[in-house]
Amino acid sequence: MAASMGASRLHMRGNGQLLKCFQRILTPSQRRAGTNAAACQPLTDHQDAGKSFLALQEERRERAERSVLISCPSKTTEKKVLKFLSKYGAVNNCFFYDSYGTCAVIEFASRDGICSLHEAASLPSIQHEASVPFKTRLLALKSTGVDQSDGAASLKLHPQTSLPVNELIQRLAAEESIDQQLHSLTSILELTNENIALRFLVCSLLQDIAGAFFPECAIRLFGSTVNGFGKLGCDLDLFLDLDTISGRSMKRPSGLSLEYQMKRVASERTVTQSVLSVLGEGLEQFAPGCVGVQKILNARCPLVRFSHQPSGFQCDLTANNRVAMKSSELLWLLSRLDERVRCLVFVVRCWARVHGLTSSIPGAWISNFSLSMLVVFFLQTRSTPILPTLDQLRDLASPADKCVIEGNDCTIVSDLSKIQLEANTESLETLLQEFFEFYSTFAFNRMSINIKKGKQLHKPKRQCYIRAPVEDCASTNVNATQLERLVALCRESAWLLAHGGAIARHRRHRAGKAPGARAWQPPGSGPVGGRRGGGRRKKKARRGGDQACGRSTSRRLPARGAAERAALRDPSAEPRADHSPGNSVAA
Ligand code: GTP
Ligand code: MG
Repeated sequence: MAASMGASRLHMRGNGQLLKCFQRILTPSQRRAGTNAAACQPLTDHQDAGKSFLALQEERRERAERSVLISCPSKTTEKKVLKFLSKYGAVNNCFFYDSYGTCAVIEFASRDGICSLHEAASLPSIQHEASVPFKTRLLALKSTGVDQSDGAASLKLHPQTSLPVNELIQRLAAEESIDQQLHSLTSILELTNENIALRFLVCSLLQDIAGAFFPECAIRLFGSTVNGFGKLGCDLDLFLDLDTISGRSMKRPSGLSLEYQMKRVASERTVTQSVLSVLGEGLEQFAPGCVGVQKILNARCPLVRFSHQPSGFQCDLTANNRVAMKSSELLWLLSRLDERVRCLVFVVRCWARVHGLTSSIPGAWISNFSLSMLVVFFLQTRSTPILPTLDQLRDLASPADKCVIEGNDCTIVSDLSKIQLEANTESLETLLQEFFEFYSTFAFNRMSINIKKGKQLHKPKRQCYIRAPVEDCASTNVNATQLERLVALCRESAWLLAHGGAIARHRRHRAGKAPGARAWQPPGSGPVGGRRGGGRRKKKARRGGDQACGRSTSRRLPARGAAERAALRDPSAEPRADHSPGNSVAA
């Protein structure tokens, strides 16, 4: 897919018949065929239905607090592990995965199971080195004596990384329409229930460590882990919630009252920096599994970045990031309203990644978050809108939903059933094509994207200006060059989607295949050079591109050589986070 998407080469069509968008939405259980339901029963989307964002997070959090992460001997069986652990408490759910050896996530029925495990566990016996005596819920199951069982045969491992590109392409090539490809892409890349459970467990383990310094704090997840747009391999965005401590300040009664004596520092930012600095040190020195700790404290949003080795997650820990948490809730809500939202966001993020429009390294490029905003805005502005505006979501909110963060009214309705959607039946293929058309003619130089109102508005002099859900703006970091690339690639991709079907039919004809036969357009054989042929759509797009960047970009359309095209199509050629699996479409 990544290769084919290198130039939006999704132009395989089956029999010219496009399936209607909701004809074949796979249920979660269908999508995750192969899950060992007997051993692992994570929450399904069906069970989640009707729950609010916060209720769902709280439920997952509570389950994580009853869970442990255990590395297992290389040859063992699920039965053996469960039999051993069940001695300490009833096991509700478990699953196994591979990360530097076999690991298991074990969810006990109650926290008593964990207490019993802790009582039974011994300190590691190591020679020539010493261990830091910091006990956590990261344990190792050791086997004494020779285990004759054939572990590989009886242990089902749940993959925690995305498919290698070649396999992904094969899977997508087997689909019969672009709509099906887009659904398939989403279901292949999206976070599995097991991966989400592992993410909440890592968050919970980190909270135990932070709790050693700030006993009443909480660590919460935000970003794509919880906003519905997470892909296997995406980073783990965490924030340390100190409001649970400072929120305690009460009105003083008349007469005597008590208050804590606390150190005073210059500003809230200084508090954040010193708290994160101490936590970073704690993670580095004491926390098993946390490696490569970097303290990035002078950033606009100070953070500690590290790798959690047993899970393979790249973690970004910030502090008091309530705004980002609310943005995550908003995106989650929107992702729940219509299946097409997720599919479009997934494909646009994937498309941007393989084109090098996004990167895991901070810089002047557009972020995945902003791309999601572009999709949201596009869907708000269809002639029959697919998504409501934020103002509409605010108007539906109940008093309990009221939320003001740093002086911004961030209120949105939490009860999804209150949202009435209009009947838009556009196919995903149409939407994707129109998305590219829309942004290839969007006047980024003059207009801002306002998802609160679902309108384009005149803007200050910045290259890209998206009014983020709960903040003033996002994407002001995107420079002119990146914006031009975005516009040019949208134009190219719109063209390819429009003409792909005809080209595929022509190829089938030349290959002597029946006109209706399904054919996969091999990567690199698309009409990259062919677009110079022009046509009405191209002229329109070029006019739009000129508008969008305030000057002619048509001559800047990349006249790429084969090597460059190949590099663009290969996500591993893009800058990537260390933890990303080498040959997969990572976040
Ligand atoms: P991935 O690339 O899959 O990790 O997507 P993500 O949505 O998690 O993005 P990222 O890890 O870069 O950022 C985490 C969260 O920070 C986002 O979900 C947003 O809530 C917030 N965020 C990131 N970039 C911006 C931005 O440009 N503006 C604003 N307002 N928030 C941002
Ligand atoms: Mg993220």
